[in-house]
Amino acid sequence: MTAIVYVPRDSGALGLGAEAVARAIEREAESRGTPIRIVRNGSRGLYFLEPMVEVATANGRVAYGPVGARDVAGLFAAGFFEGGAHALALGPTEEIAYLKSQQRLTFARVGIIDPTSLEDFVAHGGFRGLERALELAPTKIVQAVTDSGLRGRGGAAFPTGIKWKTVLEQKTDQKYVTCNADEGDSGTFSDRMLMEGDPFTLIEGMTIAGLAVGATQGYIYLRAEYPHAHRILNEAIAVAYRARYLGASVCGSGRRFDLEVRLGAGAYICGEETSMLESLEGRRGEVRVRPPLPAVKGLFGRPTIVNNVISLASVPVILERGAASYAEFGIGRSLGTLPIQLAGNIKRPGLVERAFGLTLRELLYDYGGGSASGRPLRAVQVGGPLGAYIPASQFDVAFEYEALAGIGALLGHGGIVAFDDTVDMAEMARYAMEFCALESCGKCTPCRIGSTRGVEIVERIMRGVEREQNLALLDELCETMLHGSLCALGGMTPYPVQSAVKHFPEDFRRRTRQDPPGHRAA
Ligand SMILES: Cc1cc2nc3c(=O)[nH]c(=O)nc-3n(C[C@H](O)[C@H](O)[C@H](O)COP(=O)(O)O)c2cc1C
Ligand code: SF4
Repeated sequence: MTAIVYVPRDSGALGLGAEAVARAIEREAESRGTPIRIVRNGSRGLYFLEPMVEVATANGRVAYGPVGARDVAGLFAAGFFEGGAHALALGPTEEIAYLKSQQRLTFARVGIIDPTSLEDFVAHGGFRGLERALELAPTKIVQAVTDSGLRGRGGAAFPTGIKWKTVLEQKTDQKYVTCNADEGDSGTFSDRMLMEGDPFTLIEGMTIAGLAVGATQGYIYLRAEYPHAHRILNEAIAVAYRARYLGASVCGSGRRFDLEVRLGAGAYICGEETSMLESLEGRRGEVRVRPPLPAVKGLFGRPTIVNNVISLASVPVILERGAASYAEFGIGRSLGTLPIQLAGNIKRPGLVERAFGLTLRELLYDYGGGSASGRPLRAVQVGGPLGAYIPASQFDVAFEYEALAGIGALLGHGGIVAFDDTVDMAEMARYAMEFCALESCGKCTPCRIGSTRGVEIVERIMRGVEREQNLALLDELCETMLHGSLCALGGMTPYPVQSAVKHFPEDFRRRTRQDPPGHRAA
């Protein structure tokens, strides 16, 4: 009997040696004359256990990890095709606590299926949402998305159904669906994991969006730094065309939907939706003035949906199970589930999909296991480089949009970057300004000039030059950027800066500090 082994081809697993492990398994099986089939699945998102190898046994899938190429002979000797005992044995995959306690809706198939096998996708419930959508009038599809309470997972948390309704109501011959796969936030990888582990779900979500608003063309704007996702998406799109899930007549319905991947231009600002549209049109990624909204006048001047990967990939399950069933997850106005990403100085980094509402502490300690260094966690940055720093005293905050806003923080794309007590928060504030200066599109003054002045002011504070005056000046500059910037890059850089000053004032008032890196004499 042919044994089935799963070795992820997700970038995270590849970065940790999964390719060498797959080759070692092949060689070992050949030398022993053991017939095997290696499935290159996505990652389950337990990155602290990658490369995590699974074998299909009579009692379900059993996991081993983290596996190195040199462990392979020992695993064969231990009889791992039968789930044999070994120091790297993790038991039945679905029973691993980190995974078992999750509520995977959007990521239900990630790590389980062969990403580019249509048969596998369909066997695991794929395209049921699309089939349902094909039975519904466009207004009903939009209504289902509205009723589910889905809010954009890219950062701004705008209700997806309302955006779609605006596009649906526009009367024009051409509309577009664009997927924002620029994923530039620090510590985030859920878009990548989804695209590499279950690309058909994104294709399905975008096709449903097209049917909902009457758009016949979709584009995935993918960051160029994701070559594996690029390859897998293109493979999956070609398969979907051959099986007529894409093209002139989606599933024989007579309704067209075409889809292409376009590579990004390598700038953080290209993830801002109007910059993304500029870049898609072949221009430099520069922010457009709003209004008009992209939903009214977007790509090539036509009504356009711009949604994040996770927003679109959450749509199929909403259509399949019904809006009410999705809205049962979560709390308040934060409904459904969120793929949360744990990164930075954390013992067990990875992806956790849970309903909104668990606490940051649960995420950091129950899942994350505390810091990787073993030192106390001092701060976390939630929501990317423009997110506020949250001190340990606020770790009991619920992980949902309104509760985080209530403490002056934001959820963004659900990325959490942890820092232990060796972090210098003044340096982090300086870096936030520097990041803004480096990534600014240059269109408006508070961001373009303000960020550069911001770096200089923080450096003066760090050196103790007229400290109190410069702290007051920094605050004033932050308020100007907050209220005067054209987009959230300049407008939200004050979040990390002001939260660092507020929660960690001692780091800005140290007496004996070395000159900061890159400092120039005032
Ligand atoms: C500087 C900046 C960078 C952004 N980067 C991304 C990104 O990489 N991916 C993304 O989906 N949204 C990003 N956004 C948010 C988008 O502008 C937009 O709100 C989002 O793509 C809309 O999709 P959603 O409603 O599904 O979240 C960024 C916003 C700003 C201001
Ligand atoms: S805030 Fe910065 S990135 Fe945004 S439009 Fe202004 S200069 Fe460009």
